[in-house]
Amino acid sequence: MPSRIAYNPPPNADILWGNQIKHNTKAAVHACMKLRLDEKMKGSEQFRMLLAFLTSRMTDLDVDVDDLLDKPDGPPEYPGKDPVDMVADYLTKVREAAWTEIGKSYGDEMFAQMSKELVVTVPAVWSERAKDLTLKAVHRANFNATKTSLVTEPEAAAIYTLKCMREGPNKDEIKVGDVFVLCDAGGGTVDLISYRITQVQPTFRIEEAAVGSGDKCGATYVDKEFLAWLERWIGSDAYTKIPAAKTRHGSQMMTTFETAKFTFSGNDEDMDIRIPAECGIDDDASLNIDDRTLSFTKDQMRSVFDPCVNRTLELIDGQVASVMKAGMGKPKMVFVVGGFGRNPYLYRRIQEYCTERGIQTRQPTWPWSAVARGAVCRGLESAGAGLIAVRLARKFYGTAASEPFRPGVHSEEDMYVNEITGRKMARGQMTWLCDKGDRLPDDKPRTMNIELSRQFEPGDEREVTGVLVGCTDDVPCRRFADDAAQVICRVRADFSDMPLSSFPKSRSLTTGKEYYELDFKLEATFKSDVIHWRLLYKGREYGSTTVTYDE
Ligand SMILES: Nc1ncnc2c1ncn2[C@@H]1O[C@H](COP(=O)(O)OP(=O)(O)OP(=O)(O)O)[C@@H](O)[C@H]1O
Ligand SMILES: [Mg+2]
Repeated sequence: MPSRIAYNPPPNADILWGNQIKHNTKAAVHACMKLRLDEKMKGSEQFRMLLAFLTSRMTDLDVDVDDLLDKPDGPPEYPGKDPVDMVADYLTKVREAAWTEIGKSYGDEMFAQMSKELVVTVPAVWSERAKDLTLKAVHRANFNATKTSLVTEPEAAAIYTLKCMREGPNKDEIKVGDVFVLCDAGGGTVDLISYRITQVQPTFRIEEAAVGSGDKCGATYVDKEFLAWLERWIGSDAYTKIPAAKTRHGSQMMTTFETAKFTFSGNDEDMDIRIPAECGIDDDASLNIDDRTLSFTKDQMRSVFDPCVNRTLELIDGQVASVMKAGMGKPKMVFVVGGFGRNPYLYRRIQEYCTERGIQTRQPTWPWSAVARGAVCRGLESAGAGLIAVRLARKFYGTAASEPFRPGVHSEEDMYVNEITGRKMARGQMTWLCDKGDRLPDDKPRTMNIELSRQFEPGDEREVTGVLVGCTDDVPCRRFADDAAQVICRVRADFSDMPLSSFPKSRSLTTGKEYYELDFKLEATFKSDVIHWRLLYKGREYGSTTVTYDE
């Protein structure tokens, strides 16, 4: 069901959702599609965009996050509804529809008395705050569940695919040590991750074998490519005469295009696509248009698919390369799930890529609903330990501090003179405590720290901050000022109440100033999927904060 909602104005004031929304729906349509938080953006900015995106009033149903980023103030908000309300309204509709359906099987009365557990899936990159907002919305939608839990989408998809294999004819195919790449091709994004099997009996246990990756090259981008192709084919003048409603999802032209897209295998006959009369081309043999019907060839269809398909293959290739680089050999299989993953052409191209490299390809019985089905399996099995025993750090994690300036090593831009000591320093130099791809076992917390010192004169404030910084690039940046450095959180500690005599005293030979030295330690502990970031002084904690890996 498409994740869209529209509020009709009074007197009706009803809520339209999913397929009730047509291409010509007048009310503002809010498309709450899954949000890929752009990891390159700074933390708070991400959050602002999350809110802005959820509250956007979109005239174009398939509007993309990128388009919104171009607007200076973000999209206008819907009066009286915050994003959580809207998601809650949408989920209420989902619950009503689900309850009606399930009620048919069990009888409404019996179903009402059954206890219900809810498993909610979230993208692997969801921050703690986004998870929190999601749970709030779920709560407001009144599912009345006795238990609600969260599972990440790739984890759910992997559970389901493994379960299908275990129950299928080739159940001995998967062995301890095997690595598989999971490719979840959806509407907006294609998400990938690789897992290594560490246990098969009595239940599957897996660990991450490569850091997850993904891009915006899902099924809706094929539609966008088609429209761009059409504009080139009939010319911009003709194309711009077509009203926007007739190029939207649900319009007649797009419905015929999508029907052809769904079953496209790469070797199809020419496809007939009705084009809107407004473009003014009824018949044109050179354009293969006859009686307002465009004859669309398989090569043209391929050219429209290929940007997305090729990008997906590149992403798979990236996972294969990471797994091999990590010394785990070649992955044994690629699992393909998601709505776009059902597509015969995409699947065939993935198969071709894999066959050339001696890798197998697998698709579970119901690829489109693999995530939802896996979530249900997870709910049923959740009494035991989690499926994933080891996760890999998705970023570099570290902190920024000043270092004595070294010409040729540090950038002149970062150079300053410490007024107290008179020493030339370089500000904002990164020390990375945890590398991207580092193994973070669920049961063994990892602790890393760095010792720093701050100088102060008797009258100075004695507040110290430690910033936790992340970087998703493969080669981390060296300077805090670099765009790739993202602030994750800060810890602050105030030592103003501590007597001066507790700090060692020094005198600078350069400035002659007498000053005190405050030596402290910043410590990061990675445990399960959270990071504990602390500031320690003489072994005691003076400030701390906890974030998830992906915040
Ligand atoms: N056979 C098919 N060929 C091409 N596209 C398909 C096919 N079947 C479904 N789709 C498309 O797959 C998309 C839905 O897939 P899915 O439910 O996995 O996406 P999603 O999880 O909602 O999106 P995302 O993961 O990007 O947030 C829709 O855009 C739908 O049109
Ligand atoms: Mg998805």
